[in-house]
Amino acid sequence: MAGQGWAPGPVLGIETSCDETAAAVLAPDGAVLAEAVLSQEREHARFGGVVPEIAARAHLAHLPGMVARVLDRAGVAPRGLAGIAATSGPGLIGGLIVGSGFGKGLALAHGIPFVAVNHLEAHALSATLPWLAEGPAEPPYLLLLVSGGHSQCVAVAGLGRYRLLGTTLDDAVGEAFDKAAKLLGLPWPGGPALERLAEGGDPAAVPLPRPMAGREGCDFSFSGLKTAVAQAVAKGFAAADIAASFQAAAAAALADRAGRAAAMVPEATALVVAGGVAANRRVRAALEQVAAAAGLRFLAPPPRLCTDNAVMVAWAGIRRLSAGLSDPLDHAPRPRWPLAELGAP
Ligand code: KG4
Ligand code: ZN
Repeated sequence: MAGQGWAPGPVLGIETSCDETAAAVLAPDGAVLAEAVLSQEREHARFGGVVPEIAARAHLAHLPGMVARVLDRAGVAPRGLAGIAATSGPGLIGGLIVGSGFGKGLALAHGIPFVAVNHLEAHALSATLPWLAEGPAEPPYLLLLVSGGHSQCVAVAGLGRYRLLGTTLDDAVGEAFDKAAKLLGLPWPGGPALERLAEGGDPAAVPLPRPMAGREGCDFSFSGLKTAVAQAVAKGFAAADIAASFQAAAAAALADRAGRAAAMVPEATALVVAGGVAANRRVRAALEQVAAAAGLRFLAPPPRLCTDNAVMVAWAGIRRLSAGLSDPLDHAPRPRWPLAELGAP
């Protein structure tokens, strides 16, 4: 919906699409006035993954107090907000209902514009925050979104203008890290633990496949790699060697796909990586090489902005409000909401 001209002011962002409860208040230029992230890792760890019902209840328990504290720290009263942006998909429906419902209630009570933020667009736009150390990404750029729920190559032409170039045919890459870690007896979520274990291992010790390497396009596949890890465990290879070899194989697969994607968007000026797996140093190094070879700037936002957070949600809200866009209060949260379905202003 195209709104009237927006009167710039502080914007509240709310993120509840998975297992992070997060809130942030940003000034219209993107400056972070206050932010908070609460990971539910401990609630879900004993189940070895995110339990949707537990996640929704935890969001409900923590979000109202968190929003009040963040507003307080930002020195902004609810009625002083110029916009409220809440992740409204894709994600787990219970959490989406909690976060978007809370945001809409606040918007209704104070007559504030509401933005239903697409979580993937928030990741995609995080690299355009003006204060990033390497400078903001300028469209057109190539985005590699690698998290627990998504593995996507996206051509970003501007706000609301996204073209999906490739995605995973089976597991997301973060999911593959988590499953490999589980096979190695590491606690969930396994990505960071696997990276630590890999430090003491030999990345060439265990022969593992390079999924999709050399294939046309930039789709991903990680389930074969997971099976190969299970076989390596059964054969009795050292855990650190398996971890190091898996990490090298995953990084090589991502690099191969990113290289293909770069060739598909010759107009791109930068390779941007976002999502939890972008925190992995070996992955970052492999992608940095791809960017250099393709003559692209390499932009990896700080890990805190790569994993789920509300700063990126508030920023996506600011970008949309500035373009005259907002959403009606009867906007229904969407568990599935592909980037390509978003429209340009
Ligand atoms: O973006 P994120 O926080 O949540 C969503 O999935 O949206 O990503 C979490 C994923 C998990 O699969 C986690 O294991 C992985 O990112 N991850 C890592 C690292 N840190 C987080 N994978 C590899 N190495 C890491 N250092
Ligand atoms: Zn995410």
